Amino acid sequence: MNPIRALVALESGVESETVRTVLPSTGFEVLQWLEAGSAHQAARGTSADLLIVACSAQSGSAISLVERVTKLAPDQPIVVLQLDGANSNGFMQQVFAAGADDIVVLPETPERIRHALQKAIARKRGATLSQGADPASLICVLGPKGGTGKTVTSLNLAVALAEQGQRVCLVDLDLHFGDVGLGLHLAPERTIYDLARAGGTLDAGKVGDYLTDHASGVRALLAPTRPDHAGAVRPEFISEVLALLRSMSDFVVVDTPAGFSSEVITAVDNSTDICVVGMLDAFSLKDTRLGLETLDRMGYDRDSIRLILNRADTHVGISKDDVAAILEREPDVFVPSQRDIARAVTEGTPIVSAQPKSTAAKAFRLLASLYILTKSVPAAENGAVPAAEPRLKTLLRRA
Ligand SMILES: Nc1ncnc2c1ncn2[C@@H]1O[C@H](COP(=O)(O)OP(=O)(O)OP(=O)(O)O)[C@@H](O)[C@H]1O
Ligand SMILES: [Mg+2]
Repeated sequence: MNPIRALVALESGVESETVRTVLPSTGFEVLQWLEAGSAHQAARGTSADLLIVACSAQSGSAISLVERVTKLAPDQPIVVLQLDGANSNGFMQQVFAAGADDIVVLPETPERIRHALQKAIARKRGATLSQGADPASLICVLGPKGGTGKTVTSLNLAVALAEQGQRVCLVDLDLHFGDVGLGLHLAPERTIYDLARAGGTLDAGKVGDYLTDHASGVRALLAPTRPDHAGAVRPEFISEVLALLRSMSDFVVVDTPAGFSSEVITAVDNSTDICVVGMLDAFSLKDTRLGLETLDRMGYDRDSIRLILNRADTHVGISKDDVAAILEREPDVFVPSQRDIARAVTEGTPIVSAQPKSTAAKAFRLLASLYILTKSVPAAENGAVPAAEPRLKTLLRRA
């Protein structure tokens, strides 16, 4: 295999020798060392495979370099190498928003860094590292307890993915009391119930006729309008519909009711990714732990499940350490309690669009970016959720 040939831009104060020691020593070549302040010109028309920007967290010069290169040379893969390992949701978000393909937070092994670089190059070239087509991800949003924020998360995740250029279908599997239509102000003229009742063979065109378009680009398959219609939507039918939706989109996001009912288990079985939404209170944390244990028993790798802690800033006498101890892991994304989230639901515009600069919007965009980042990980043959790459796991733990 040809070596990766990189331009490496250094934030002022960062020594090339420091960076050289962490980069792969074989199969990798630095074509040119550059200063971050003036590197954008070199990145245009270069024969290098990618640009690496070595910096510390919160580096303004790194962000502006990524922005400039994205504008000047949109085909140039860019990976940010964050040297100081500082815990910063905000910086990672800015890095992705500026147009970088990936961020690697040190310490990390040279092998994993190489893999991240290869992935960034492959993604920009429109290829994947795995063989074959890149299938749509199906993200099942779960929460064993009611009212933890599953629907809020599903709506915001779907819209954030669409705003990042992804083709997104959002499925409301809360068949009795679905709220997706209300949360996006969509009239339920055609629902999953109507599709189930339509009869005949199912194909992508037919399923597409029952989707309702939202201004963000999200296409929603809405829940039945009456709880007594839920029984008409059978698990086998749900599986078939989910597979067809995957064939016509980049991401399928599935909102589910609380607990592990048959439709939830069907969604879990068809998923490539799981997003568990817990809330910062004692009851919810206990149930979230039970939910994670249930997924464990169902054979899902815990590390490949994203965990959202909603209302994470509520003062209820539970610290972040307590949360980690109870759940035996740290949440990947923290969403604050914000009145505007509920107001956005009332107004039918999720907070990512209504208040894009709010902390909650940034958290949901981070979640979307993380899913986009792992999208090229192939689904396991047996339907189980594939394990996230080790480098990404590290990155997620720090997010
Ligand atoms: N971070 C937050 N800040 C403020 N309000 C929130 C937040 N998250 C959710 N809410 C509000 O809490 C209520 C419950 O949220 P949501 O409907 O998303 O929960 P759910 O898990 O889908 O509930 P259910 O189990 O009933 O489907 C909604 O009114 C929502 O607007
Ligand atoms: Mg809900």
